[in-house]
Amino acid sequence: MKIIVINGPNLNMTGIREQSVYGTCTLADINKKIADKCEKDGIECDFFQSNCEGALIDRIHSCHKNYDGAILNAGAYTHYSYAIHDAIHSVDTPFIEVHMSNVHAREEFRHKSVISPVCKGVIAGFGHNSYLLAVEALKGIIEK
Ligand code: DQA
Repeated sequence: MKIIVINGPNLNMTGIREQSVYGTCTLADINKKIADKCEKDGIECDFFQSNCEGALIDRIHSCHKNYDGAILNAGAYTHYSYAIHDAIHSVDTPFIEVHMSNVHAREEFRHKSVISPVCKGVIAGFGHNSYLLAVEALKGIIEK
């Protein structure tokens, strides 16, 4: 089983920006926790982060036939990028949408996700554990 964790804009600033919302772990710390879990679970895991919509779309396209599953925190693109919606829709790889914060308890513009309809499910509100829960969710989907 081979998966990828894709992070979008500003997630490279995790641990620095809005610590009361996103915590003090850096993205490297979070990726290490995911990598450790994947190693224990016998899962191969790659990581990608970009602040650019086009680069995220290229990486999503490259998932086709190459990954059994993907975990995506698209950051603010979640709320308005129809291009990312279409990219996920273009590939056969199952995607889990992830957010560290509970987007539904925040500003109204965060309540809407344009990518949820093309993802298998959504995990939000559990800090960096949202990613670890998403690994579990993918295991459930892929092992079936
Ligand atoms: C986020 C929530 C988004 O609304 C925000 O733009 C982010 C991070 C989260 O992980 O909680 O950048 O996706």
